Amino acid sequence: MKLLRVGLAAAIVLLPPAANAAGKKANSIDELAKMYDVTSCKECHAKVFTEWEKSFHATSLIGSPRTMATIASTIKDGLLKEYTYSGAKEVKDLTVEHMMICAKCHLPQLKDATDAVAKEIAQAAIDGAAGDEKAKKQLAKVGINCLICHNQKALIHKWTDGEIDPNAVYGSKDGDHPDTKFKKLKKSATLPESIMCGQCHGLGPNFELAEPTQCATLYGSYLHAYVPSGGSETCQDCHIKKDGLGHLMPAYRDPAVAKSAVTVDVDARGYYFLPKVGDSVPTAVLTVKMTSHAGHRVPDG
Ligand code: HEC
Ligand code: HEC
Ligand code: HEC
Ligand code: HEC
Ligand code: HEC
Repeated sequence: MKLLRVGLAAAIVLLPPAANAAGKKANSIDELAKMYDVTSCKECHAKVFTEWEKSFHATSLIGSPRTMATIASTIKDGLLKEYTYSGAKEVKDLTVEHMMICAKCHLPQLKDATDAVAKEIAQAAIDGAAGDEKAKKQLAKVGINCLICHNQKALIHKWTDGEIDPNAVYGSKDGDHPDTKFKKLKKSATLPESIMCGQCHGLGPNFELAEPTQCATLYGSYLHAYVPSGGSETCQDCHIKKDGLGHLMPAYRDPAVAKSAVTVDVDARGYYFLPKVGDSVPTAVLTVKMTSHAGHRVPDG
């Protein structure tokens, strides 16, 4: 009896942490997309859904599509070349841990997948970057969707706020929610604050990784430059509310931002001199005044 108890305790310790309510992990991109399915949200939140669909968040493994190409070169020219230490000589040796150096922010739900998914994403990024449209379509099935912000990342301080409820969507209040799977609505103190976005928009190098990467860092400059110099607006104020573009969350790359909040003004005035024989340069002077309305350094990422 005593021996059996010891055996059980050891077995419990060795079990991997539960990936979701059922404790299962996704074995393919298709399974991961199903686990984080948001098609039901479209029915009742059509406007938000349409805005989000066009955002860079929706296809966060593809991007402009520089992201897909950079993930491909990170694998080929980085991880696989350094196999002595990375332990991965070919795509088939790649694991979730390897891919987390990008997926930490570009696909945080990869934590709920097996190594098979890490390999599938790696291969699709390599093929997609080489022009394979089918591979690109596969990558577009997963991204930073409603459930990443309104569930997985909606609570930050677990010792004060507790763990995420897998059956709730987090928003501005507590109550019932008519979705068939996410039946509860819970209030999140994080969602309206800049720290919500700071979880991925970066402070600097990601030192907690075995192979620290650095990509987006503008939350660092928001905290240490914009706020100390008197800035009082949140990411949500400028990127969601001011222009009324909501979940499109635009930056300068989105044509729709020509509106106002998310812009840099450029004023240029040229002076032309009529030079006499023997005059030296300058024959023209150009004064350029650029005003950034950003709450952080640009460019980033
Ligand atoms: C059948 C319709 C329906 C579906 C499906 C649905 N919602 Fe909702 N949702 C609502 C309604 C109605 C409210 C407002 C509840 C209230 O005000 O009491 C709401 C509220 C919310 C809120 C809170 C908004 C706030 O005030 O902060 C969020 C976030 C949300 N839904 C996300 C989602 C997501 C994500 C999905 C998909 C998984 C989804 N909803 C699916 C009807 C729906
Ligand atoms: C789960 C991580 C995550 C969270 C949380 C997050 N973002 Fe992002 N965001 C990304 C990634 C990754 C991209 C880039 C996708 C790509 O192009 O590859 C991105 C892209 C963007 C862009 C477009 C950048 C460009 O160059 O056009 C804006 C603007 C943006 N996010 C704003 C926000 C705001 C505002 C919040 C908070 C309300 C937020 N994000 C929360 C990860 C996140
Ligand atoms: C700390 C979170 C984080 C990590 C880790 C991270 N990224 Fe990013 N990345 C972002 C965010 C947020 C953006 C978009 C914001 C911006 O452009 O400022 C972005 C933007 C990009 C862009 C430009 C987007 C575009 O569409 O052109 C590329 C390329 C990129 N990431 C590749 C990578 C690769 C490859 C890795 C892994 C080696 C990686 N990132 C790791 C958060 C991260
Ligand atoms: C990158 C993070 C992010 C993603 C992705 C995201 N949301 Fe939101 N959402 C927010 C934040 C932040 C707010 C709160 C803005 C505030 O109060 O300042 C919000 C507000 C809302 C609201 C209430 C306000 C409104 O505009 O009606 C609803 C409903 C909502 N989201 C639904 C969704 C649905 C549905 C999806 C997927 C299609 C989605 N969200 C995707 C971050 C996100
Ligand atoms: C005071 C308004 C304001 C605030 C606050 C603000 N932004 Fe911006 N943001 C801008 C403007 C304006 C731009 C466009 C700059 C340009 O045109 O180059 C921008 C650009 C960006 C970009 C694109 C950068 C790039 O080079 O690709 C991202 C991503 C972004 N913001 C995310 C955020 C996040 C996350 C926060 C909160 C930590 C935030 N912003 C706070 C106004 C703001």
